[in-house]
Amino acid sequence: MIADATHLDVRAFDACDGRGLDVGTSDKTVENVLGVYSLPFAATLNVRINGVDMIAPMVIEEPSVVAASSNAARIAREGGGFTAEMDEPIVAAQIQLLDVEDTASAVERIRAAEKELLAMTDAAVPGLVARGGGARSMDIRALGTTADRMLVVDVFVDCRDAMGANLVNSIAEAIGDELAVLARGRVGFRILSNLCDRRKVKVTCRVPFDALATEEMSGADVARGMEDGSRFAELDPYRACTHNKGIMNGVDAVVIATGNDWRAVEAGAHAYAARNGRYEPLATWRRDGQHLVGTLEMPLALGIVGGTLRVHPTARLALEMTGCKRATDLAVLAATVGLASNLAALRALASDGIQRGHMGLHARSVAVAAGATGNLVERVAARIIELGDITLDAATKALADIRAADPTAVAVAE
Ligand code: MEV
Repeated sequence: MIADATHLDVRAFDACDGRGLDVGTSDKTVENVLGVYSLPFAATLNVRINGVDMIAPMVIEEPSVVAASSNAARIAREGGGFTAEMDEPIVAAQIQLLDVEDTASAVERIRAAEKELLAMTDAAVPGLVARGGGARSMDIRALGTTADRMLVVDVFVDCRDAMGANLVNSIAEAIGDELAVLARGRVGFRILSNLCDRRKVKVTCRVPFDALATEEMSGADVARGMEDGSRFAELDPYRACTHNKGIMNGVDAVVIATGNDWRAVEAGAHAYAARNGRYEPLATWRRDGQHLVGTLEMPLALGIVGGTLRVHPTARLALEMTGCKRATDLAVLAATVGLASNLAALRALASDGIQRGHMGLHARSVAVAAGATGNLVERVAARIIELGDITLDAATKALADIRAADPTAVAVAE
């Protein structure tokens, strides 16, 4: 069904049966390779963004995240789905200048040469310029006190469909020496900044109260609890951290599935969350009439060309599943799954608590850990859920009991 919905040949999905990346390629990709490490490849369904239906590929090991984001995306559809917008794909190249005798006049000299410097920058990345990207502007800042004698030049580069790390690092190295001459100092670090706050995604959803109702609670009460939970995260960094972890459950899973650099995304997200001097939630929730409105804003530098996508067939398949033709569209999708994951977590926390749903799905991994395979996984999981004891000991005993009661019970592959 997913092949049909994404207009892909169903045989393309052969790439996800654990053969995604082979040992030989891995050995050429990183160092000291021992083998290939696999993770579950799944999909969040029901996602609707700006009126368009999408399927979000996810790579994640945590039970219940995929079910939760799919369920939340279904709930958000009741309010028309998600609305999203994204900045241009701008990333900063940072060039540190040291031993600058007079920082004020150095700033002036660099400022006067800005046009030539930007042209020099573009000359370092002709391929990017041909694709419509390139250097856009620069910022020059003195850091610390006069005693530090330190400047940083941020060159803002439009990376188009690339994540941009390699392009931006090449740019930083290409113009560093020229900047040092102009500053009458020496060049220090030349590297991108992962705090790409000019490359932000904004996603919102307006969920009718009714869509949030549970068996035991009205939608209005759940919405009130979710707003209270949002305020909790806004006021307390300890809660904001966990709140954002729930968002990153969704974001990272899409980022990893599509072969992108999740460490860069994580670093950028958390630096952005702390931009006001205190760690804050990336998404907030407010009631508005009979609706609950969620808003997520975060930096997100993703690519749809180069990097892992060159070598990883499952990452390529995952990207094709999304139908994204621009890096900005992929970032919008990842952020949307992040907001859906946050919606799911806050709804659970405001109603049943997280453990009921979580432990139900966790029971299957506990059953597998106890040695159950095939159809025995569901039987053992059902038994330990019924007992309300989702532990390895309970699963081991349940497996032994099933086998003792029915010696013919064998694992039939599903
Ligand atoms: C668990 O992976 C994520 C949550 O802790 C997020 C949250 O508390 O909002 C459920």
